[in-house]
Amino acid sequence: MNPTAQIIVLDAGGQYCHLIARKVRDLGVYAEVRASETPARELASARGIIISGGPSSVYDPDSPTVDPAIFDLGIPVLGICYGQQLMAHLLGGEVRKGDTGEYGLATLDLQDTLDPLFEGLAGTQQVWMSHRDVVGRVPEGFTVTGRTGTCDIAAIAAPGRGFYAVQFHLEVVHTTRGNQYLSNFVFRVCGCTPDWDPRNRVPMLEQEIRDCVGKRSVFFFVSGGVDSSVAFALCTRALGADRVRGVYVDTGLMREGETDFVRRIGNLTIEHAEEQFLTALAGITDPERKRHIIGEEFVRVQERIIESRHLMNEQWILGQGTIYPDTIESGGTAKAALIKTHHNRVAGIQKLIECGRIVEPLKSFYKDEVREVGRELGLSSELLDRHPFPGPGLAIRCLCSEFDAPVRATPEGLIVPVHSVGVQGDSRTYAPVLAIDALDHARATELINTIAGVNRVIAPVETNTPVADMQVRACAITGERLERLRKSDGIVRRLSHESGYDHQVWQFPVILIPLGTENAPDSIVLRPVDSVDGMTAQSVLMDADLRRAISAELLRVEGVAGVFYDLTHKPPGTIEWE
Ligand code: XMP
Repeated sequence: MNPTAQIIVLDAGGQYCHLIARKVRDLGVYAEVRASETPARELASARGIIISGGPSSVYDPDSPTVDPAIFDLGIPVLGICYGQQLMAHLLGGEVRKGDTGEYGLATLDLQDTLDPLFEGLAGTQQVWMSHRDVVGRVPEGFTVTGRTGTCDIAAIAAPGRGFYAVQFHLEVVHTTRGNQYLSNFVFRVCGCTPDWDPRNRVPMLEQEIRDCVGKRSVFFFVSGGVDSSVAFALCTRALGADRVRGVYVDTGLMREGETDFVRRIGNLTIEHAEEQFLTALAGITDPERKRHIIGEEFVRVQERIIESRHLMNEQWILGQGTIYPDTIESGGTAKAALIKTHHNRVAGIQKLIECGRIVEPLKSFYKDEVREVGRELGLSSELLDRHPFPGPGLAIRCLCSEFDAPVRATPEGLIVPVHSVGVQGDSRTYAPVLAIDALDHARATELINTIAGVNRVIAPVETNTPVADMQVRACAITGERLERLRKSDGIVRRLSHESGYDHQVWQFPVILIPLGTENAPDSIVLRPVDSVDGMTAQSVLMDADLRRAISAELLRVEGVAGVFYDLTHKPPGTIEWE
């Protein structure tokens, strides 16, 4: 049994809403997420309320709101990002459109360090911002407690009433002292007492699986990645091996050696469907269509297997290793904007969810927590320490283009007309890339914040031809391009493993973009990132020798014209390009 939640997080549609609840639980205090409009009377027993961020503007007619009576309960309230704007708006202040957006790292200047929320946090702090609207005037009784270079009202407080709000995301790891802010709110402001042991989660998860599955059995798709392997192991432990069957589908979109790895680690059936996926993706260039097609093909393979093995009856349900970012970035919580449709959230799967035929034990967990759960289950670190690899595989790293198009010179750099996905102010963007001369992260961040219509910045490591002479050509996914990417990815993985660099980064996607020359039509982009949970990430540099070694080998791959480095943090870029 879970204790009664001392902290309630009201979901205003933010990408990071469940992360807030998890961070509170990590502090040893049980917290739950509820719909933003939950009536105040249902929240009266909580010790504190947190209003999450969200993609809306308070002036949008459909924007999420909260029951204003929560401000009369005598309970402390903390607003984060959109939560700050909503509090200001509902309590008589003013919110206005910002002149420029503010995405990424910022330096917060604390005005009033006597504020209990800022106890132990003197002077300046690194914080993470992702917003366009700002509070223009604070409500009566509030004071401004923090500002950044571009945001005059970055933190406000009315300590007498227990009301606090911050424009930055204190729940993400890039707000360096975020845990301290949260702990100050939970313990000093709300007076919560520890009632939750994070180690309770394995028995709690096993019980949840048994409750969900009942007397049925589980048919589990396993990818060889961390999430599905941990979820599979949990189900096996909760239900017994004879009630759980694991199948790995070779989609032809996997990396070099992957199917052999899976064969080695698991007691799984391998289903070959390479032709089926390649045929379904022929001629497709749009990332969301790719994702939907892949998701639906997965469902088709699943139906085929279930039918051919006579499992098509009420006795079987589907197990998936879905984790929290898969659901929120697919627009799967009440109000989060659609950033990307993850393969395990397409229509066919939604139908199964609606009829209660899916079990997803890790769906409110983040990658780092999944690894911890895996360790508690005794899984090997060879498996648990693997970098994340997306379900749709190399298909979403093999970029396509509908048209031939030249690169275009601007004073800031070259606009490369390959579109990639980004996330800004909790909303999806889909925009061309800017190529600059130098591997300079600060410059890249500044350019994205100032140039409209660009969401990602790259710089060449080495090219066969000057970038200005390259061009983007119309193309979709082909076996040849997939092979080119697979080979390049294999080279990068080998060299980063040999040098130990793979242990220094959280993930290292390798992307193929249709930028090149007639003889060598594609280029490779290196995207090593640091992250904790994949929700935010920082592009990181690598040693010049390793960079040179990687690019020298990549330029020997047939069809590769250049090697680039992605300098974009998340936000404003996403980790994957599609
Ligand atoms: P983005 O690109 O959204 O990625 O910044 C965040 C993390 O999620 C992984 N990712 C996926 N994982 N199915 C998955 O299982 C997917 O459809 C998917 N798309 C992105 C990505 O590799 C990164 O670790």
